[in-house]
Amino acid sequence: MGQLQDTVQALLAENKGLLAADESSKSAQKRFDALGIPCTDETRRQYRQMLMTAPGIEEYLSGVIFYDETIRQATDDGTPFPQYLQSKGIVPGIKVDKGLVDLDNFTGETITEGLDGLAERLREYYELGARFAKWRAAFSISDATPTQGSMHANLHTMARYATLCQSAGIVPIVEPEVLYDGPQDLSKAHEATESILKLLVQMLKAYRVDLSGCIVKTSMVLAGKQSGATSSPDEVAEHTLVVLNEAIPATMGGVVFLSGGQTPEQARDNLQAIGSRGKQPWPITFSFSRAVQDPAMKAWAGKSENVANAQKIYFELTKACAEARQGKFKANESGSTDNFVSASQDS
Ligand code: 13P
Repeated sequence: MGQLQDTVQALLAENKGLLAADESSKSAQKRFDALGIPCTDETRRQYRQMLMTAPGIEEYLSGVIFYDETIRQATDDGTPFPQYLQSKGIVPGIKVDKGLVDLDNFTGETITEGLDGLAERLREYYELGARFAKWRAAFSISDATPTQGSMHANLHTMARYATLCQSAGIVPIVEPEVLYDGPQDLSKAHEATESILKLLVQMLKAYRVDLSGCIVKTSMVLAGKQSGATSSPDEVAEHTLVVLNEAIPATMGGVVFLSGGQTPEQARDNLQAIGSRGKQPWPITFSFSRAVQDPAMKAWAGKSENVANAQKIYFELTKACAEARQGKFKANESGSTDNFVSASQDS
């Protein structure tokens, strides 16, 4: 096995998942503002440190995706974050896209920027310790979207990003997110996710990406929030696994899910339903941000005296997801996260 495959194997290790801690400073600002937490480079550092240093988290955490600011930060004792993670056997990663801008001529659709100078940036990130990267494109679903234009523009770009990563010894995570925040029903979500993933794979092959050294990060397939419908975990598992099996070749290194604004319980229960369906052609795990962070961020509230409690909440949420990916999560055991989640949401 080569270096890329070793990294894939470490990230997809059976009882673990990834933390997406790569919110841009602008996104972090929105989330901190909503909770009245001052947002500075120092409070963002303290927050990310709180997550990464949660006692025992290495048992369930395989990798952490950083933002450019965060990969350069250090723990209180001066240990750079990437080195801290490596010392715990957790793989450091980096979000390298530069975010979304409007796609001209395609109202309501976006294109992800960040290819210019990327080879050089990847070399620096590798030096800093990153062994995998993430690039996200976002697709909103409506009667008129996603268009072929936005799919082609975004997925060509994503495939090019993947080649640059692999040349730099870095595993690319390719993330074409289908936004959950839309009016789509379950069958429309199914159809859109399948078309996007199929075109993504076609582009990756066209650009000669080594699929075994690549990870797909996808939305679960579920009815959009504005549709008014709620998809049951069984429906989510059924549709998600049909789409993945249709679109993703068995040679792909792995599949990870984003949570996309689902509640922590919803994301966990859907993951559990997916995990319960047994072995798939590729290992599957989670790479959540909001579904493991929101209750912990609320409990932390920017105060050092809350760190231990917030870490406990984050630990339990991550542990639950690590069990769920194997179909092994059991509610109401010691460590049932629902108590933590509702306690923290009420506070
Ligand atoms: P969410 O789990 O909050 O969707 O974030 C995951 C992610 O990395 C989005 O790019």
